[in-house]
This record gives sequence, C-alpha cells and structure tokens, in this order.
Amino acid sequence: MPTNPVLVVHGGAWAMPDDIVDAHLIGVRNAAAAGWRVLERGGSSLDAVEEAVVIMEDDETFDAGRGSFLNRDGKVQMDALIMDGGTLRAGGVGCVERIANPVRAARKILSESPHVYFVGEGAERFAAEHGVPLCRNEDLIIPRESERLREYLARGEDHPEDIFAPAISHDTVGAVALDRDGNIAAATSTGGTLAKAPGRLGDSSLIGCGCYANNDSAAASTTGWGEPIMKLVLAKWAADRVESGSLPEWVAQEAMNYLKQRVNGHGGMILLDAQGRFGISHNTPRMAWAIRTTQRQDAGIDRN
Ligand code: GLY
Repeated sequence: MPTNPVLVVHGGAWAMPDDIVDAHLIGVRNAAAAGWRVLERGGSSLDAVEEAVVIMEDDETFDAGRGSFLNRDGKVQMDALIMDGGTLRAGGVGCVERIANPVRAARKILSESPHVYFVGEGAERFAAEHGVPLCRNEDLIIPRESERLREYLARGEDHPEDIFAPAISHDTVGAVALDRDGNIAAATSTGGTLAKAPGRLGDSSLIGCGCYANNDSAAASTTGWGEPIMKLVLAKWAADRVESGSLPEWVAQEAMNYLKQRVNGHGGMILLDAQGRFGISHNTPRMAWAIRTTQRQDAGIDRN
C-alpha cells in the first residue's frame, strides 16, 4: 500500500530579527512547495529534498548558495550532503567555491560516483564533468554579506566567540522527506559560519552530523553552530534513538537539550521516520521551518 508522503524543511536556527522573519517564512514555504510537487506526483524523497534545498540555495535570504556567509578571505565556501534512506547511498561536497547549487553536485556524487565525498577543486571538477554548471565565486557574493564580514572584521579578533552566538545567523538549510514508496531521504546545504577559516568544514556535509537518512531509523537535517553538532554526531544520535523506539518529536527535542547540556551548542533539527512521524526542534529563539503532508500545510519560526 502506498505511504502518505511527508516533507519538512528548515531554513536556519538563530535569533532572527523581526525584519527578516517574513523573508524566511516565504523561503521555507517556497522550498516546501517545490519538494511537495515532486512527492505529489509520486516522485522520490531523494528528488524532493534536492528540489526543496535548491530553492533555498537560490534564495539569498539563506546561508546557502548565493548569499552565503563569507569566509575570512571574503569568499563563499559551501558544504552540502544528500542521503537516501533506502539504499544508504550518500553524496557530499565540502569547501566548494564555484557551484551555485552544491546539493546538485552532491546528488551527482550519490547517483553517479562510487565515492561518497568530494572536496574543493576535485568536487568542482566532478560537478562540471557531470553536468553541474560552475560559476565564479564573485557571482555568489552579495553586498549584504560583504558588509557583514567587513563589520565583523572591523570589530577585531577580541570576541571570536561572537560568531557562534545564537544572535549571529546560522541559516543552513535542509529538508527531510518520505515518499509514496516508504523511502526517506535528507539533504543539508550551507555556506558555513561567518568569517570561518578557509578550508574549515562544518557539520552540514558530514554523514551523521548535519544530515543522515536510513529507512530503519530516521532522516535528519540539523542547523546551527557546526562544531558542537559534529562532536555529538547529532543527526545519527537522533536517528539511533528513533530506531530504538522513541518518537521523532521527543527525540528532536532531546537532541537540542543534549546539544546544549553536553557541549553548550545551539541549533535546530528536523527529524522524520519512515512512518511519517516527525519532530521539529530548536534551542535558538527562532528557526524557520515548513511542513507539507496530505493533511497539513504549515510553517513557523518562533520557539513554543
Ligand atoms: N551548521 C553549519 C556550519 O556550522 O557550518
């Protein structure tokens, strides 16, 4: 019997100021609509999460694709991962600078490579050889982010912890989906943290940290300060608890408590199992999210 599809997306967890709330809500709703179009016509969860994430990579509101944070050198440097819960196939790219849609490159790795992970120039070469267009790094830089970096660097190195405060944007984007065949998938894409050291890789593209999918447990995508999330391998931590019988709604909340208590981390998570049960949680003041099911179409941003 076909499963009722479900799609959940997020667009970053932090203390978003009021004036950018609407843009975030519009962005996650657009992403959910794109993913839902795939699921509605019987498409795969893998295609759905890819299409949802592409919408947010293309939307300058988010820290992914064009509009990403700049690293210390003033360049956009992005990471992405996509994973199929049915086969456990995965594709990831790290530190790419010339791909407007890193999730498309990640998908090509999943579908057309025996490998799982490519970084830097090798990832860009693989992408180009497999039909993903390359762009100039300058094409991904917008004035808002040049100004943000300039202001941050002008403040000096006195407060390096500032870049990890929840008040600073962590607009990593992600999606999890369940399709009619009962398969789940997840994808996450990011420009990383503001003024990061060139070559720094965050949690988003690491299997089990920023993204994970396994039909036996759950699909997860995280957002927030990457280093603490990596230390806890948080997406896999959550999936394991779902596999042990806990409800995704409870596990997502527990993951945020664990992140805060164990390593003083902050962020958010979307979590979905192959029965369509899901959790949406963040320990930051706000996280943009949207959901589509056959029964429900919803979006939100504030912590309850
Ligand atoms: N969560 C995104 C990053 O830390 O790179």
